[in-house]
Amino acid sequence: MKIIQVHSKFNIYLILFVTLLVIVLPPSTAKISCNEVSSALKKNKSVEYNDLKKCLESFPFNAKLATDTVDAVLHFLSSYYVFFDRAKEDPPSGFTYQPVDLKKELSSLRSSLRETPPNSDYDFSTTLRNIIFKLKDGHTNVFNLCYQRFNYDQGLSLYSVVTTDKNKKKKQVLDDTVDSSNNNCEVIEIGGKPALQAIIDFANDTIQYSKDLDVRFNMALAPSQPRFLRQFFQQFTLREDLPETSSIKYNLTCPKKGSVNFERKWIITYNDGFDGFSFNCLEQNNQTAFSLNDNSASSDKVTKLTSRDKITSSTLNNEPKIAHAQKLDGGSLYLLNDESKTGVLVISEEKVKDEKGLKYNFQELKNNGTKKIILDMSNNPGGDITFTLFLTSLLFSSKQPNSFPTDIIINDFTIPKIEKNFKSNSTDPDDDDLYNPKLFLSFPFGSPFNSSSEFIGTRKKRTSNLYLNTLTPDEKKLLENVSFPWTSDDIIIITNGFCASACALITLYLSEVHKVRTIAVGGRFDSQMSFSTYPGGQVTSPNVIADYAGDNITDVPGINPLSLTVREAYSFDENNNVKDVLEYSYKPADCRLYYDEKNIIDPSLLWLEASKILNNEIKC
Ligand SMILES: *[C@@H]1O[C@H](CO)[C@@H](O)[C@H](O)[C@H]1NC(C)=O
Ligand SMILES: *[C@@H]1O[C@H](CO)[C@@H](O)[C@H](O)[C@H]1NC(C)=O
Ligand SMILES: *[C@@H]1O[C@H](CO)[C@@H](O)[C@H](O)[C@H]1NC(C)=O
Ligand SMILES: *[C@@H]1O[C@H](CO)[C@@H](O)[C@H](O)[C@H]1NC(C)=O
Ligand SMILES: *[C@@H]1O[C@H](CO)[C@@H](O)[C@H](O)[C@H]1NC(C)=O
Ligand SMILES: *[C@@H]1O[C@H](CO)[C@@H](O)[C@H](O)[C@H]1NC(C)=O
Ligand SMILES: *[C@@H]1O[C@H](CO)[C@@H](O)[C@H](O)[C@H]1NC(C)=O
Ligand SMILES: *[C@@H]1O[C@H](CO)[C@@H](O)[C@H](O)[C@H]1NC(C)=O
Ligand SMILES: *[C@@H]1O[C@H](CO)[C@@H](O)[C@H](O)[C@H]1NC(C)=O
Repeated sequence: MKIIQVHSKFNIYLILFVTLLVIVLPPSTAKISCNEVSSALKKNKSVEYNDLKKCLESFPFNAKLATDTVDAVLHFLSSYYVFFDRAKEDPPSGFTYQPVDLKKELSSLRSSLRETPPNSDYDFSTTLRNIIFKLKDGHTNVFNLCYQRFNYDQGLSLYSVVTTDKNKKKKQVLDDTVDSSNNNCEVIEIGGKPALQAIIDFANDTIQYSKDLDVRFNMALAPSQPRFLRQFFQQFTLREDLPETSSIKYNLTCPKKGSVNFERKWIITYNDGFDGFSFNCLEQNNQTAFSLNDNSASSDKVTKLTSRDKITSSTLNNEPKIAHAQKLDGGSLYLLNDESKTGVLVISEEKVKDEKGLKYNFQELKNNGTKKIILDMSNNPGGDITFTLFLTSLLFSSKQPNSFPTDIIINDFTIPKIEKNFKSNSTDPDDDDLYNPKLFLSFPFGSPFNSSSEFIGTRKKRTSNLYLNTLTPDEKKLLENVSFPWTSDDIIIITNGFCASACALITLYLSEVHKVRTIAVGGRFDSQMSFSTYPGGQVTSPNVIADYAGDNITDVPGINPLSLTVREAYSFDENNNVKDVLEYSYKPADCRLYYDEKNIIDPSLLWLEASKILNNEIKC
């Protein structure tokens, strides 16, 4: 009885308190919170988690803007997103993700906006973003310019090693940039969960950039790469979305100190981009309110992930070193210090402007008498798709274009546009003009289209097969008189799975068509793993596609850019029969290596292993 009485009093008190809060405080606490955020940023100090959370959640839900946004997102995805139907199906064996029925989920979000309106604009944006995230397609997302410009940093680097002693038992090792006495401690628990499980769960649930859980696992952790290559990694300790909790607890076992427990708060900073901090998400409707250099997602064909590129905070404490290879001039070119005359070319992105340098690098390796080549394409977020055809053509000559067949979606309203483009006299169509038959060659013979109906083909809602792209006159010139001594057997590709987009198209092509061997590094122990991720075909943004397609709906409203995959690439067999959609094909690497305490900071140790595989000294 007593307990109950006390309890009910307590309840009343609580309710009163809450009511009081609701009536009197919200507008002002929100304002105070945003002021705190703003003033911390002005002083170049870390923002308090709770202030930021309150501030983000204080911007009111705008029903009209939200409904229009969902309508536009559904319109663009259903009209152009090339995996719209495929996403509903179960994953092929090897991949880990949930099927997503975009039409159903977006329609149900739309009706919920009226029935149970979200508490804030932030809640709405997050729900929308999470639906798209489930696709695990790194090309396709809604970026929120209001809420996603903060960096959340634990100030520590986690990496996973497989120890070779005893039963080859895997363990997590922690490297701490805040307290260096935690270096090389083994992490036992994170947030009360076994450490490995915590990382796997995070990779499974939260990381969107791969359909392969092992690749996501690597993305959660720190990479084994020289500093200048750092891109997109360490997502567990370095986040772009507001974390669920203000801090994380860790339990470690350290070589000297023994058992250590600590709790680490997020260090929260703001991305560069504003001249001073003007936090006003209320102006979402006002396109001119923010003038960021990098807002309109990717109007180019570049498929690089944008938001995390600038992160410079948490880094591996140990400066990566390359002790077993000699650097040649040219930036990313090495000769291994073994007897094998093996060269290493590190390719960390695909840029047309680097094509000349790429040719020079291979020539340099040839001049130096290199017998074998390792292509290290880890942590490579992609780039220009033209680069893929250039690189494959540089290494292997072929009568047909050295690239995959692809398709785009055709709608009734795009057909007149295609016909008009075909009739037009312009011979040099814009690179982004997907509906211009003159931009493409036919698969498999590589001939230009003689009519718009040849381009449209006979399939429902899809073009006839198109080559990924054609070489420009400049590229053709660069490829003239090139001849290298290496065959497929002399080349091996090594990646940590994060070889995305244009990088994925290169490695998949070299592997599938030219039978170049592949090695994947890291991931979970004793599982197979992909060497590439989200090959897609081509990414674009609604305003660009709407313009070329002649769509009446010209963009998603508000300031938040959507990006989406509009072209899909396929594998094909010796008889040039088109086979599978690459984005949905599980292609594990031929060989597998794991990180250990040494090669996690020195990739040249991995190259030595790759060289042994390449030279058939060890089997994989
Ligand atoms: C903010 O602090 C960081 C390190 O704490 C420093 O590198 C940076 O230069 C500072 N920026 C300004 C504008 O003071
Ligand atoms: C990954 O998440 C899905 C649910 O989204 C779940 O069904 C699956 O079991 C998880 N896999 C692992 C290995 O945790
Ligand atoms: C981890 O630390 C918490 C306290 O921070 C403690 O309650 C828990 O028992 C520890 N777990 C292990 C495995 O040491
Ligand atoms: C949009 O923002 C700009 C710059 O802040 C301002 O000058 C303009 O009046 C705003 N327009 C509307 C419709 O709010
Ligand atoms: C590699 O070739 C360049 C000329 O292209 C030469 O200057 C350099 O000495 C060679 N390096 C080695 C290690 O053979
Ligand atoms: C296209 O070229 C033909 C023949 O050269 C010419 O008669 C026609 O006027 C041109 N059309 C346009 C739209 O320029
Ligand atoms: C266009 O016509 C030529 C000559 O008849 C033919 O060889 C080529 O295959 C045709 N192009 C396509 C895409 O069918
Ligand atoms: C390729 O070789 C031919 C014949 O030797 C020569 O005429 C041409 O200029 C060369 N092209 C380039 C780009 O070096
Ligand atoms: C564009 O608007 C016109 C006129 O309202 C309509 O007839 C046409 O079907 C629309 N096109 C698309 C692609 O929605």
